[in-house]
Amino acid sequence: MAFSAILKQSMGWFDDQDHTIGELKTILGADAESTMRLTGWQCGYRVRVFSSICTGIIISLIFSWKIGLTALACFPLIMVASVVQACLLRRKYVAESEGLTPPTILEQGLRGITSVQAYNLEPKVSDDYDDALGPESKSKIKQGAIAGLVYGFTQGVVFLSFGIVFYVGTHLLVEVQINFLQFFTALLSIMFGAIGASQVSANFSAQQEGWASVARLLSVMEGPEDDPDDTRSTASTIVDLQGDVSFEHGQFSYPTRPDNMIFYPSPSNNNDGLNLSVKAKESLGLVGRSGSGKSTVLQMVLRFYKLTSGSCNLDGGNNIQNLNIKWLRQQIGYVGQMPTLFTGTVRENIMLGKPEATEEEIATAAKAAHAHGFISFLSNGYETDICTGGGNLSGGQTQRIAIARAIIRNPKIMVLDEATAALDNESEEKVQAALASLQEKHPRTTLVVAHRLLTVKNCTIIAFLGDGGVLEIGTFDELVCKKGDFYKLWKMQGAEDELKAH
Ligand SMILES: Nc1ncnc2c1ncn2[C@@H]1O[C@H](COP(=O)(O)OP(=O)(O)O)[C@@H](O)[C@H]1O
Ligand SMILES: [Mg+2]
Repeated sequence: MAFSAILKQSMGWFDDQDHTIGELKTILGADAESTMRLTGWQCGYRVRVFSSICTGIIISLIFSWKIGLTALACFPLIMVASVVQACLLRRKYVAESEGLTPPTILEQGLRGITSVQAYNLEPKVSDDYDDALGPESKSKIKQGAIAGLVYGFTQGVVFLSFGIVFYVGTHLLVEVQINFLQFFTALLSIMFGAIGASQVSANFSAQQEGWASVARLLSVMEGPEDDPDDTRSTASTIVDLQGDVSFEHGQFSYPTRPDNMIFYPSPSNNNDGLNLSVKAKESLGLVGRSGSGKSTVLQMVLRFYKLTSGSCNLDGGNNIQNLNIKWLRQQIGYVGQMPTLFTGTVRENIMLGKPEATEEEIATAAKAAHAHGFISFLSNGYETDICTGGGNLSGGQTQRIAIARAIIRNPKIMVLDEATAALDNESEEKVQAALASLQEKHPRTTLVVAHRLLTVKNCTIIAFLGDGGVLEIGTFDELVCKKGDFYKLWKMQGAEDELKAH
């Protein structure tokens, strides 16, 4: 339940330091367990303990009301001691650690194990981990010392009460007000009751931890802003979507870095932020320097993030914020910069794009993505198992399977973020040609982000991003003739020579 809630969270939520994979693993694992402790057998245990105290006192009252009353009189003492213990244990002594938390360091270190070993970072990562554990272990020591002291105190009060009850009991025995049977029965029943009471407070910390875990679990399960299962009436779909995409006066900064505006009004975009449009079935190339916001534009179309102001529209005036998000994403085929493959066979991975795909469709999509060739060479062809994250495939092979996964979906809008960047020149050309012929056969709106300008040469329109918006826009030839920023980048890439060579 918690996991499915996490999966629906928005991208901005995952950017948060408190929601790294390591942290979320801890919450899902450890917190779920301590929450369970709050409910399961702990509750039954508490019922047992309380009933034993009551029964103990009732029995002692029946056998000797004087001893029973003395015990009752001591009871507030024990209660006060328990409350003091509970209060002291409730206080959290965890010093707020600065920087990364241990689970985050653990996760980053193991995920990036190749870099860690290549750069001999093992000692550094392990030191960082120890340092991050420092505040927690210090606070645990402090907490342990305090817990020990208060535990001793409560126990002391319990035994003091025993002493008083014994004193009164023996006094009554000596004066022959009660007999031996009454004396022992009353005393033993009180003793068992009191031991029960001390056990309740000893388990108080488990309960406290449980509540803290409940709070953390609830915080990750809080309804996401963008619920893909959204059934609000405003969350509509577009009947017969054509595929026009446009941005109007778009302004944006990532939620984790609100001061760092990516799209903003500036003189170079007529103080209007991001204005950009592509017509249905046409292709738009997005180029610009690294960090100019190319990938950000695509993330916006997928509604991973929300524009701070302005709008992103489909087919004219339909703001994507008002569209059903599940439907919206079904219309889009996305191939990211670093596509992820899931554990399973090659076939299963391609079928993720279209679960009901036939054998023929799979092969056609793989051929279109220039993946069929190398898949056939794999030990088991389409049945070859891919290990987590596509670890046993090269970057180029991973990208081609991801492209096949997008193609099989036959989406209205194709979104490619450096989709061919991990391919060598020859395969890139082939995949580009395949994508171009696909575009000819089934024209669809295509947004292509590319680092190499040649990749977007055949796009209907190319936008050069920078300065918080679009710096230059036009066809490839127009932009080259303009001799502006695009031309500079074009020359820098030495692409003119490359073009001549073709
Ligand atoms: N998830 C994120 N959180 C905060 N800042 C981000 C995030 N992703 C990208 N950025 C910042 O936004 C800017 C644009 O990034 P991006 O769109 O990925 O650039 P590119 O044009 O190279 O694809 C960069 O300066 C980057 O540092
Ligand atoms: Mg990018």
